Amino acid sequence: MSPNIKEQILKLKKEKNAIILAHYYQRPEVQDIADAVGDSYYLSQIAQSCNETTVVFCGVKFMAESAKILSPEKNILLPVLDAGCPMADMAEPEALLNLKKQHPNAAVVAYINSTTEVKALCDVCVTSSSALKIINNIDSEEIIFLPDKNLGSYIAEQFPKKKFILWDGYCITHKKVRQENVQAIKNINKDIKVLVHPECEAEVRALADFIGSTGEIISYASKCEARDYLIVTEEGVLHELKRRNPNKNFYVPGNTMTCINMKKTTLEDVYESLLNNTYQINIEEEMRIKAYDSLMNMHKLAR
Ligand code: 13P
Ligand code: SF4
Repeated sequence: MSPNIKEQILKLKKEKNAIILAHYYQRPEVQDIADAVGDSYYLSQIAQSCNETTVVFCGVKFMAESAKILSPEKNILLPVLDAGCPMADMAEPEALLNLKKQHPNAAVVAYINSTTEVKALCDVCVTSSSALKIINNIDSEEIIFLPDKNLGSYIAEQFPKKKFILWDGYCITHKKVRQENVQAIKNINKDIKVLVHPECEAEVRALADFIGSTGEIISYASKCEARDYLIVTEEGVLHELKRRNPNKNFYVPGNTMTCINMKKTTLEDVYESLLNNTYQINIEEEMRIKAYDSLMNMHKLAR
């Protein structure tokens, strides 16, 4: 691969009228080449509102599929075909149908980290940054939430009057961090601010100074006066945190929190994606229409 791959990507991007979107968990060099970098909610908004006809989505499959559900007229590309989200695959449509039968009055809320088939069976989607606002805007007293039991329990804690039925899914990356790791660092550095993603387990969240999405964690650290931060989410966010805050110190808990799927996409993959139009996301129209409402409701209720 030629050393000036970045120039080649930029040239191809212009020729193909494409935009490159990257999640904060992507490799630093992929974030650097992107037109927009953000959390799941922000990227979903940009994919829908952008004028470009091709979107290269550097993230995982459910993100690219969500973009296609909302913008079927656009050419949505996922540079690495098997960049999936194990948590999204933990919720099966058949099992959800059974659960819905047991709770016919419950609103069904899906984390955007879910398959298109599951979105098609839901009332509304949420992201970690939009979830609290959206749940607050839902009248139903009973809510089925899937697939992330950790984000689900975090939301349930904020709405004690509602009854939540939580799916048993979780993020394998955020599950790695243990309360002891975080406590040990807090014991050594009493002033450190602990910023935690809601995909972490409850006992880890209990030690947080702030809980929020990747984008919210970055904003919090950028506005806060403190010098030291323990970042309890996938390590990819460190790139933007350090870029925005060169004079602050960012630490991670003992175990490295790396999402192997988010790290699959390389600059070479982005180049190949633009060159060969790979991998095109296609969703069967009947399924897409069923899933469309849940994502549109997310954008409506998050306002
Ligand atoms: P956010 O960027 O919305 O916080 O999502 C985190 C995540 O795990 C995406 O897969
Ligand atoms: Fe899925 Fe977790 Fe990776 Fe996000 S970090 S894509 S939730 S496995």
